[in-house]
Amino acid sequence: MSEQAKLEIGGKVYQLPIVVGTEDEHAVDISKLRQESGYITLDDGYSNTGSCSSAITFIDGEKGILRYRGIPIEELAEKSTFIESAYLLIYGHLPTSLELRRFSDLLTQNEMLHEDMKFHFEGFPPNAHPMAILSSMINAASCFHPRLMEGYQPGNFEVQSARLLSKVRTIAAFAYRKSHGLPIIYPKPIYKYTSNFLHMMFSEPYEDYNLKPEVVRALDLIFLLHADHEQNCSTSTVRMIASSRANLFACAAGGVCALWGPLHGGANQAVIEMLEQIHREGDDGSKFIEAAKDKKSGRKLMGFGHRVYKNYDPRAKIIKQQCDKILESLHINDPLLDIAKKLEEAALHDSYFVERKLYPNVDFYSGIIMRAIGIPIEMFTVIFAIGRMPGWIANYKEIMDEATTRIYRPRQVYVGPTERHYLPIEKRTKNA
Ligand code: CMC
Repeated sequence: MSEQAKLEIGGKVYQLPIVVGTEDEHAVDISKLRQESGYITLDDGYSNTGSCSSAITFIDGEKGILRYRGIPIEELAEKSTFIESAYLLIYGHLPTSLELRRFSDLLTQNEMLHEDMKFHFEGFPPNAHPMAILSSMINAASCFHPRLMEGYQPGNFEVQSARLLSKVRTIAAFAYRKSHGLPIIYPKPIYKYTSNFLHMMFSEPYEDYNLKPEVVRALDLIFLLHADHEQNCSTSTVRMIASSRANLFACAAGGVCALWGPLHGGANQAVIEMLEQIHREGDDGSKFIEAAKDKKSGRKLMGFGHRVYKNYDPRAKIIKQQCDKILESLHINDPLLDIAKKLEEAALHDSYFVERKLYPNVDFYSGIIMRAIGIPIEMFTVIFAIGRMPGWIANYKEIMDEATTRIYRPRQVYVGPTERHYLPIEKRTKNA
């Protein structure tokens, strides 16, 4: 018989099955607990809850390990591209050259937006945040592809997913051009994914952007490193929406909204704002570190800490190296990089951060690379969203392919008023 856990409540013992993952992760399956005992489990913020079984991404937060479909992130960062890794995440294996060619062709065929979508862009005010535009426009794009509304169909998933992955970059670039009052630049089929994005962002109608290979590689690497990260806030949001059988574009639009917050994808923007503030105030970082340790200050060291990593985030290691490389090759001397390195050094030797196992995460250095490339700060989280799209698509597919997936519907422990009765308005007092 497989391993069981025993839970004793009020003198009665309940047997709970133990589920073991391929990396020897052990979980107590409590799915029948309420049915058998009347009890639910409570886990505020889900820090100890496995919401699903998944075969996409593995993280060992204690050891600082991240693997996409079993392949270490370090190998992918060195040898793969964003699009190849996207294929790996979505379809579970590295593509053959024929499969990669077909995938790339599908991305090219779907790079344009319906011309009528231009009117939607016009409706946003000049300084609209591009994350708001991105989320709205992903949903709007679904209206131009009515077959999406027929629900998940394995037969046309390949096209639908390529459509989303391809169009999201066009939407993102158009959102940037719109918010800066710049003319829209259409994609060019001769360019690969990341080059095409840079072209749509920075070319002018009268002059093509000079695509430097090291810039293309740096941005491609940022996309690749963000491509999936198991059950984080936005991916769980995508899975939550998908569990109701909503369409792929609706799920992705929800993922964008969840990613926007400063504790999640919005942290890359918040890191640069923090570094700029430190620079402006002439602080060497030490005052900020003190404030970040003081809970009353309302400040945190942005780009530090992670729910899962209790060790150096492996993505941050790769990004930090890339950061040095790109700044050197573009001959940029960014004072924010010096401040970031000083902050890191100070935090890694400060007992507050050491005891809490707070290390730099993926967002700590990525913003400095994006600044060097010329990506404006309000677009940083959009870049994260483009990068995370394959992970969301892979999780959507996983949930749809699993015949037994039920709608996600957590329970709660109710702590509000017990039964009381409706008072007519003339009898009410304030807060009664
Ligand atoms: N600066 C100062 N103190 C911190 C920080 C930080 N960045 N992060 C965590 N702590 C403290 C926290 O106050 C708590 O202290 P205490 O034990 O005294 O109450 C302790 O460390 C444990 O932290 P937690 O809040 O329980 O951790 P969490 O798992 O709930 O939150 C986090 C994880 C990433 C939201 C948090 O570390 C944080 O807010 N970091 C800054 C924002 C950030 O960089 N977010 C990007 C995350 S990585 C990319 C992504 O997922 O999008």
